[in-house]
Amino acid sequence: MILVNSVDNSPSSNPDEAFATALAEAVERRRNFAIISHPDAGKTTLTEKLLLYGGAIQQAGAVKARGEQRKVTSDWMDLEKQRGISITSTVLQFDYRDNTINLLDTPGHQDFSEDTYRTLAAADNAVMLEDAAKGLEPQTRKLFEVCRMREIPIFTFINKMDRPCQEPLSLLDEIEAELGLSTWAVNWPIGSGEQFRGVIDRRSREVVLFGRAERGRQSSERHLKLDDPKLKDLVEDDLLEKALEEIELLEVAGAEMDLNKIHAGELTPIFFGSAMTNFGVRPFLDAFLCMAKGPIARNSSDGPVDPLHPNFSGFVFKLQANMDPRHRDRVAFVRVCSGRFEKDMTVSHARTGKTIRLSRPQKIFGQDRAVVDDAYPGDVIGLNNPGMFSIGDTLYSGQRVEYEGIPCFSPEIFSWLRNPNPSAFKNFRKGVNELREEGAVQILYDTDQSKRDPILAAVGQLQLEVVQHRLENEYGVSTRLDPLGFQVARWVSGGWKALEELGRIFNCKTVQDAWQRPVLLFKNEWNLNQLEEDHPELKLCSVAPVVSGVDPLKL
Ligand code: G4P
Repeated sequence: MILVNSVDNSPSSNPDEAFATALAEAVERRRNFAIISHPDAGKTTLTEKLLLYGGAIQQAGAVKARGEQRKVTSDWMDLEKQRGISITSTVLQFDYRDNTINLLDTPGHQDFSEDTYRTLAAADNAVMLEDAAKGLEPQTRKLFEVCRMREIPIFTFINKMDRPCQEPLSLLDEIEAELGLSTWAVNWPIGSGEQFRGVIDRRSREVVLFGRAERGRQSSERHLKLDDPKLKDLVEDDLLEKALEEIELLEVAGAEMDLNKIHAGELTPIFFGSAMTNFGVRPFLDAFLCMAKGPIARNSSDGPVDPLHPNFSGFVFKLQANMDPRHRDRVAFVRVCSGRFEKDMTVSHARTGKTIRLSRPQKIFGQDRAVVDDAYPGDVIGLNNPGMFSIGDTLYSGQRVEYEGIPCFSPEIFSWLRNPNPSAFKNFRKGVNELREEGAVQILYDTDQSKRDPILAAVGQLQLEVVQHRLENEYGVSTRLDPLGFQVARWVSGGWKALEELGRIFNCKTVQDAWQRPVLLFKNEWNLNQLEEDHPELKLCSVAPVVSGVDPLKL
């Protein structure tokens, strides 16, 4: 595998020019992103509108399926919910202008789980969607932290400008002050709520006036130069004046547009609009495609891997069981990182060293699946998982490569998992181990050997429900949950040695993870802060790297 900035002269890495050109073109076209938002900010609506522009769907239904109306293509989670295993985050691919766009769809609030975090590990860009009346909300902050960790570019869409909202300047201030992210408004709203007239594009000094669209339809857009005399008849003086004054303030006091900073995740371009009425969605998509990062070189154990390397490589970022209950199937979602993936190709599995023929790769679009013939860096493919794939696994052809694992994210919900039926112990143990390996939930153990029941640790309640449901349905074990009253978990950097040196600590419980690393559980942030204050020498981490190649503790 050629790494970035290194040269490999072996004949196998010297593909014919036509292949190299096709690969370069495919990579050049691709853009990939995930939307991070709080429930109700309008993610489903925005997704739907983006798909509409991409021609991926013909009819934008209202967000919630009403009566006989067709279901929103990306919103197929209700079906999953009825089955109690709503763990979907899917990938939507569509073409728009010269680009092939992969939208990694993260599940909404009720379905919040580690999958939501992991999906961000496969994304090259994030769109942060805010409700203009509410500003930053908890779920968005959490997801933002994961984006920051990965230093991916963040594009902010401030939605629902057609409704009464906060002052645009204070929305920007909030992002700067609370997230430590500089902002650069690409467009600026003229009015809001009933008086929302459109936006001024700061780059072209053009006013984009929007006509309200019929529900679900593409709105009309009218472009006028700022000095066009017709503007006076179309927009109230005071609204225009206020917008211009604010823009002037931004010119003087705001950050400057800097693509490098955007790509480093330090500066976020801001767009104002209204997904529901289609205000500003197309300008957003156009600008996003100009500024977004293409498929990036991913870090492997030997350094970054160039997406243009001819050998295929990719990693598993999500596993999903029972997508189709009739087939009890399991799908592994693989993000392609380099080279071209081809149907029926034989690849190596880095963790086990085995070779596998990938005969039924799928592209999954909402409910629909289609067999893919090929895929390129930035794309996501669904592979049938006979149980051999784990989260973070690398697949490659040619020279060995192994991508950095996907970390364990700090759980916030903890519960003993009880097995009231001793005769089912074997199945219970098997099920818990397999579900942990699959990444459905994290498992912690009490350090007291006499308490051997596993502690389920999750970032979302849904994960616990999924585990219970699957244990019952797939392993025939009914279980009981006994919640523990903790909300915060931290891994200890120096391991057991660091803890021993510390002596007795209070207001927290020490447990161990499946790799026997110490984890501290706290009732609340306040207790955590107190311990950190009392022991500044203690280094605690909210994410822990996945340990590959180590056999985790068995029950
Ligand atoms: P989510 O996926 O982020 O949870 O949000 P979703 O798109 O479902 O939107 C949540 C609600 O906000 C929906 O209303 C939706 O119509 C509304 N909404 C989304 N974008 C805009 C916007 O730009 N302006 C306004 N005014 N509303 C917006 P709902 O009442 O829950 O559903 P429905 O009755 O519209 O179907």
